[in-house]
Amino acid sequence: MPFYSRRVETFGTTIFTEINGLAQQYNALNLGQGRPDFDTPPAIVEQVNAALHDGQHNQYAPGPGTAELRHAVAEHARRFYGLDIDPLQGVVVTSGATEGLLACILGLVDPGDEVIVIEPFYDCYVPDIIMAGATPVFVPLHPPTWTFDEAELRAAFTARTRAIIINTPHNPTGRVFTREELTLISELCIEYDVTVILDEVYEHLTLKDAHYLHIATLPGMFKRTVAVSSSGKSFSATGWKIGWVYGHPDVLDGVARAHQFITFAVHHPTQQGIAYALNMPDSYYQQFRAMYEAKVQLLMRALAGSGLKYSEPQGTYFILTDFSRVFQGMPMEFARFLIQQIGVACIPLETMYSAEHIHIGKDYVRFSFCKTDEALLAAQEPLAKLAQHVRA
Ligand SMILES: Cc1ncc(COP(=O)(O)O)c(C=O)c1O
Repeated sequence: MPFYSRRVETFGTTIFTEINGLAQQYNALNLGQGRPDFDTPPAIVEQVNAALHDGQHNQYAPGPGTAELRHAVAEHARRFYGLDIDPLQGVVVTSGATEGLLACILGLVDPGDEVIVIEPFYDCYVPDIIMAGATPVFVPLHPPTWTFDEAELRAAFTARTRAIIINTPHNPTGRVFTREELTLISELCIEYDVTVILDEVYEHLTLKDAHYLHIATLPGMFKRTVAVSSSGKSFSATGWKIGWVYGHPDVLDGVARAHQFITFAVHHPTQQGIAYALNMPDSYYQQFRAMYEAKVQLLMRALAGSGLKYSEPQGTYFILTDFSRVFQGMPMEFARFLIQQIGVACIPLETMYSAEHIHIGKDYVRFSFCKTDEALLAAQEPLAKLAQHVRA
C-alpha cells in the first residue's frame, strides 16, 4: 500500500518542473514556463526592502492581508473595472493566485459538487477540485479560434454545478473572451445558481486592441463572482507569490474561511511593495503592455521561420503553436525533441487537458515571451532549423 493518499494518487510532477529540468540538462533556451527572465521594477523592490528594515513588517501580517494591500486591491478594482469592493470584507491576500484558487474551491465548493473547467486549463485547477472532493466537468475550446461550442457549454451545466473557473486573458491560448461569450456564461450561471471563479492573472496583459471585460461587471454577476489575481504577472514578480481574491463580501466569506487554515497569512514585507505597485499610475500599466507588444513581435519573428503554425495572441504572454507540419507525435514528445535537437524549451499541452479531450490539443505546444529581448532574438536561429523538418 503506498504512503500517499488516494486524493493525490493521480497527481504527477508538474510539467514546469519536468521541462525546466530537461531545459537545464540540455542547456536549451527556455521559452517554456511563464517566468520572466528579467527583474521586478526597482521601485517596487525598493518598497519591499524598506519594509524589511522599518521594524514593522517582519512578524505575522494580518491573516486576510495588510490594510494597505487590501485597500490597494479595492482601489485597483475601482480604477480599472468600476467595481465597488469593500477592502476589509471583500479582499483576501493569498500566497499567489495558486493559493487563491485553492481557497476559492475549498471555501465555495462541497464534496460531490461539479465544477466546470474550460480546456486547455491551468494545471492546478483540476487537483484543487479533486482535493475538494468535487468533480471537474470539462468544456473544450476548439482550434483554430479557441472558442467554446455553445451547446457543449450548456450541456456542462447541471443541477450539481457549483462553480465554473474562467481564465481570461486565457493561458495558454492567448484568447481574451468576448462580451458575447461572457454573457452566455453569465446567463447560465444565473440560471443554475453557479459561482464564477475568475482567474484574471493576465488582466493587464491584453495586446493590440483586445479589451479585457471583467465578468463581475455584467448584470447580476457581482454577487456570484470571486476574482483571483496575482502580482506575479502584472509586476514581473513571480517569485514573491503574492496574490489576492476579491468580490462581494458574501461570496468572499467562504474564501476567507478556507484561507485562514491554508496559510493564515502571507509574506508581510512584500505586501507593502505590492500595495505600492497596485497604486502606480496608469502610465506603468501602459508601459507594461507596450513592453509585451514589442516582445510578442520578437517571438512571432522567431516562429515565422520555424515551420510552426501560430496566430497572434490577444492577451497573456504566450503563443500557442501547431507543430503538426514539422513533427509527428504527442506534444511531450515534440517538446523533448525541441529541447534535445533544436535547443529551445516549450510547454506541451497534455497536462492542460482531460483524457477525454487531449485529442483536441495533440498538435499544440506553448511558447512564452516574458523573456529578455536578447533571449527572444536568440530563439530565431535554432527555431529556423525546425523548418528543415517541414513535410511536403
Ligand atoms: C492562468 C494562471 N493562473 C494562476 C497562475 C498562478 O499564479 P501565481 O504564481 O500567482 O500563483 C498562473 C501562473 O502561471 C497562471 O498562468
